[in-house]
Amino acid sequence: MRIVSGIQPTGSLHLGNYLGAIRNWVAMQDSLAEGEEAFFFIADLHAITVPQPPGELAGATREIAAALLAAGTNPARATLFNQARVPQHAELAWILGCTARVGWLNRMTQFKEKSGKDREGASVGLYTYPVLQAADVLVYRATHVPVGEDQKQHLELARDIAAKFNTDFGAAVFPLPQPMIPPAAPRVRSLRDGAAKMSKSDPSDMSRINLTDDADLIRLKIRKARTDALPIPATVDGLEGRPEARNLLEIHAALLGEPLDAVLGRFAGQGFGTFKPALAELLVETLAPIAARLHDLLAHPQELDRILDEGAARARAAAEETMRLVRGAVGFLL
Ligand code: TYM
Repeated sequence: MRIVSGIQPTGSLHLGNYLGAIRNWVAMQDSLAEGEEAFFFIADLHAITVPQPPGELAGATREIAAALLAAGTNPARATLFNQARVPQHAELAWILGCTARVGWLNRMTQFKEKSGKDREGASVGLYTYPVLQAADVLVYRATHVPVGEDQKQHLELARDIAAKFNTDFGAAVFPLPQPMIPPAAPRVRSLRDGAAKMSKSDPSDMSRINLTDDADLIRLKIRKARTDALPIPATVDGLEGRPEARNLLEIHAALLGEPLDAVLGRFAGQGFGTFKPALAELLVETLAPIAARLHDLLAHPQELDRILDEGAARARAAAEETMRLVRGAVGFLL
C-alpha cells in the first residue's frame, strides 16, 4: 500500500477538507504496516492555475502544512512536502500529457466550473490541471488516494492515464490508484447553500467552518446556518429535498463516526433550535485542540520549514525511482 494525497494552499483548511479527506489521511497513515508509505503534499503548482499573489504563496503553504500537522499528519509516519520542490511532478505531468487525450480532458467538469464563461481566457494550466494531478499520484506509484467525492473524476482520469501508459509502452510501471472516499462525509456542503460544496473559494466566510475558527465563531456560524422550519425526521427518506438540513445532520454523524440513521434516531421530532447547539458544541470539542496545536506550530516556522525540507528530500528520492522507469519505458537517450 502506498498512499498519496494533496491539498491546495488557497485558503485555510475547512471542515469539508477535514471530514472529506484529512481525517482519512491520518487514519490511513496510522494504520500503515511495515514497508508501506504515505506521501501528503501541498499542491502549490495546482494553486497557480489561477492567479496567486506571489508575496502570499509561501505563507499560505506554511499555514496549510501547520494545519495538516495539527490535524494529525505525522512526519515520522508520512512524508509531508510542497509539490513545487519535487520537480519530478512537473516532468511526469509533461510525459503523461502526451498519453492523455484531449477528449478525456474535455470531459472534466472542474475546468468547466472554474473557467466559467471565460474559457478562452483561462490558463492552459487550469485545463491540464488533471494531468498534473495524475502525475502527483503516479510519480509515487500510489495504490490508494484518500480524497473527497469532488476529486473522484480526477482520480478516474489518473487510472485511465496509468492504464494507457502501461499499454502504450508495454511496461507495468503504474499500479491503478484507488480513490478512498469516506462514506460518512463524501461531500460537505456550504452552510449557506445546500447546492454548493463547502469551499475555500466561497466569498462568504459564513459558508464554511475553518480549522482556525474560535469557539464563538463556530457557534455563530452554526446558529446562522441555513435550515428549514420542519422538524428532524426519523428516517433518511424524510431528508429528501432538504439538502441544508441533511448537511448539518451528516456533519454531526461524521464527527461522531456514526451512521446518519443513529443521529436521526436521537433527534427525531425536534427542531433545529435544539439540534444546532448540540452540533456546535460537538464541533468546538473536535476542532479546539486542532486550532490550539495549529497556533503553536505557526509560532515555530523554522520547525515547520525543517519538516518540509526533509519531506521534499524524501519525496524527490521516491519520485526519482519512478522517473527512471518512466524515462526508460519512453525510450529517451539518457
Ligand atoms: P482541495 O484542495 O480542493 O481539497 C483537498 C481535499 O479536501 C476534499 N474536499 C472536500 N471533501 C468533502 N467535502 C468538501 N466540501 C470538500 N472540499 C474539499 C477534496 O476532495 C480533497 O481531497 N485537486 C485537489 C488537490 C490535489 C490532489 C492531488 C488530491 C492535487 N493533486 C493528487 C489528491 C491527489 C484539490 O484541489 O483539493
